[in-house]
Amino acid sequence: MNELRLLLRDASLRLSHAGVGSPDTDAIALLAHAWSTDVADVRRAEVLGRMPDDAVLRRFSALIGERASRVPLQHLTGRAAFRHLDLAVGPGVFVPRPETEMLVDLVAPTLEALAAPVVVDLCTGSGALALAVKDEHPAAQVYAAELSPDACAWAQANRDRLGLDVQIRCADALTAFPELEGGADVVLSNPPYIPVGMVPVDAEVRDHDPALALYGGSDDGLRIPLQVAARAAQLLRPGGVMVMEHASTQGDSLPARLRAQDVWREVGDHRDLTGLPRAVLIVRS
Ligand SMILES: C[S@@+](CC[C@H](N)C(=O)[O-])C[C@H]1O[C@@H](n2cnc3c(N)ncnc32)[C@H](O)[C@@H]1O
Repeated sequence: MNELRLLLRDASLRLSHAGVGSPDTDAIALLAHAWSTDVADVRRAEVLGRMPDDAVLRRFSALIGERASRVPLQHLTGRAAFRHLDLAVGPGVFVPRPETEMLVDLVAPTLEALAAPVVVDLCTGSGALALAVKDEHPAAQVYAAELSPDACAWAQANRDRLGLDVQIRCADALTAFPELEGGADVVLSNPPYIPVGMVPVDAEVRDHDPALALYGGSDDGLRIPLQVAARAAQLLRPGGVMVMEHASTQGDSLPARLRAQDVWREVGDHRDLTGLPRAVLIVRS
């Protein structure tokens, strides 16, 4: 085994012992970051037996130490991939998750059927959903609301860096965009939905994602999601569509509570790529 492979193997073992879930992937991503290159380039160096210089090795060692203390990988690299976008993230903003990407697919048929759909992302965090929709559906008029000033600043910075024309308002999703009431075609949301009192097992989530991004405001975690859905009902035109992410344990309870809101003519739940209940799609009466 060459020197670079040994370096990566030792780093991966250290991460594994610290309880990191994907030690190999994280070790190579952090070496790529320390080396200011990409993972494919590190793989090439592995094959060629090429070693980075001492400054890179020192940076890598420090990054592995931080990751072993369960600082999220994305906070260390400063980036999170979301659909086709490379989003800047860090302390103060929720790191977007792969399972959220399916929300964009769920609304795609509605967006493709309209010339210039009006789209609202409630609880936008880093801007992930709003920016991905604008990136993939450039004709859409996209609006997004975020309550946390820190998260909102990340979203606005992502928008500006990516050059995507999205109106991002630092405001409460439950009252934002009164001028759009009754006129939105699509609302997306990945709101906070973890039951209060259920502390996440992963240190990366528990210690680094903001509490405002995690907890749904009640024992079942549904208080804020239901409030967000009620706001979506005010924003949407009749026939407008909302998709909302939920916990895998809320695949029955959330649709049942939405049916009781009596403003949705269709309520259907969707599973993610791992087969778990993940998002509800509802159509405004
Ligand atoms: C689970 S995170 C999701 C962020 C982003 N949509 C994503 O998928 O990566 C929930 C976000 O909702 C924000 N939030 C919580 N309550 C809010 C409210 N009343 N109005 C607007 N944003 C809110 C949090 O600050 C956090 O950024």
